[in-house]
Amino acid sequence: MSARVGLIERFRERLPFGPDDPVVSMGEGSTPLVEARALSERVGARVWLKLEGLNPTGSFKDRGMCCAVSAAVREGSEAVICASTGNTAASAAAYAARAGLRGAVIVPEGKIATGKLAQALVHGARVVVLHGNFDDALRLVRELVEHHPISLVNSVNDYRLEGQKTAAFELVENLGGDLDGLCIPVGNAGNVTAYWKGFQELDRSPRLFGFQAEGAAPLVLGAPVAQPETVASAIRIGNPARWEEAMAAFTASRGEVRAVSDAEILDAYAFLAQREGVFCEPASAASVAGLLKYGAGGCERIACVLTGHGLKDPQTALDRAGGVIPCEPDLAALERAVLG
Ligand code: F0G
Repeated sequence: MSARVGLIERFRERLPFGPDDPVVSMGEGSTPLVEARALSERVGARVWLKLEGLNPTGSFKDRGMCCAVSAAVREGSEAVICASTGNTAASAAAYAARAGLRGAVIVPEGKIATGKLAQALVHGARVVVLHGNFDDALRLVRELVEHHPISLVNSVNDYRLEGQKTAAFELVENLGGDLDGLCIPVGNAGNVTAYWKGFQELDRSPRLFGFQAEGAAPLVLGAPVAQPETVASAIRIGNPARWEEAMAAFTASRGEVRAVSDAEILDAYAFLAQREGVFCEPASAASVAGLLKYGAGGCERIACVLTGHGLKDPQTALDRAGGVIPCEPDLAALERAVLG
């Protein structure tokens, strides 16, 4: 059996890395694209789910981080830093550990899912909990790196987008030119910008449908949101860094950016878990919530990007799910518990 090949090795001719450049990889990318039967039936189109939660640290961030950290090593950097709602932090911490770099991650107080916090800590990053939100954190780290020789690995770093565009390559590989539409959650707007770059490099133009949470929907409102709020903590962002590029991509693709409520996000989250057998985190379910709410828009073949794994945020799952059934250790009690 051959080892799983990482992004840079797989797509090197389309990435800014030469054959002798250092590569920090954990076999990221090559994620499953699965057909979603129940969802297809509901929306009257063929729908596929791109399971980005199956990347090494459980989110799509690993695609970008592989490239950003490899470039940081090439530049001789000794440390990386990012602001994060959680997944970038987990990914940066893991890839920094693998590269032997120091990592610092700045996360908003009380708004990071448990699994992501555990990841950042276990990989040995310096985890700074900011008394502020993601937008505050990003503004501050951007200032900090102007004064210190630390590589910023947020998606304002172009290497992040280079890595993340490879997901579009994989979709084209899997579905050819037949992909009409892409549904994707939008937070800091790096990922949708990266997908568009990837599609454009292959001369494809599926319509991009981006979805923000109602309480954190600056692109939909056309103005920054000072106090973003949503159950989908990963996309609790009020002032996206890639604002203009993302809006240009929606326009050029004849797509749209729209809002979904927390209730709609959680309904889609439960639908995916219970009808498709797919456990994603709430932010990821925003893509499917949007598809269910607004319909396929005339598209016949659609891919929904499920950006992160459900295990990232066990608390939201437990809060939503039914309770467990206690049972005494005898057969009659077990029969009642199982069959009753
Ligand atoms: N889905 C998940 C699970 C995310 O973690 C993020 C962003 C997004 C969607 C939105 O992607 O920002 O490129 O538009 N998470 C960042 C983080 C902000 O810090 O982990 P985007």
